[in-house]
Amino acid sequence: MAKRSSKLSIFFNLALVLSLLLIISTMAESRLIFNVIKASSKVSCDSVIGVKSGETCTEIAAKFKLSTTVFDAINPNINCSKIFVGQWVCIDGSVN
Ligand SMILES: *[C@@H]1O[C@H](CO)[C@@H](O)[C@H](O)[C@H]1NC(C)=O
Repeated sequence: MAKRSSKLSIFFNLALVLSLLLIISTMAESRLIFNVIKASSKVSCDSVIGVKSGETCTEIAAKFKLSTTVFDAINPNINCSKIFVGQWVCIDGSVN
């Protein structure tokens, strides 16, 4: 009887581990799908400005009351250490 129940508990543990693995892999998969969607998300810019002499990303973001996170999100192709006078930066937009 004791032997039988320990076999049964091994079986249940195995089933538990397997279902956990299944849950984890499903989660990993949906994360992957989510990342793909995120990577292909479209940024739409509603308003741009030309960078003026001496301006930095941080200053532009502050001027238009944007957090750096939002600023970076609507300006995915801008490298703030390479910003130049006359470069167009997005100061209002959305990420879908
Ligand atoms: C931005 O430009 C700097 C200077 O050329 C470079 O070192 C850095 O890797 C670039 N960053 C990105 C995210 O491309």
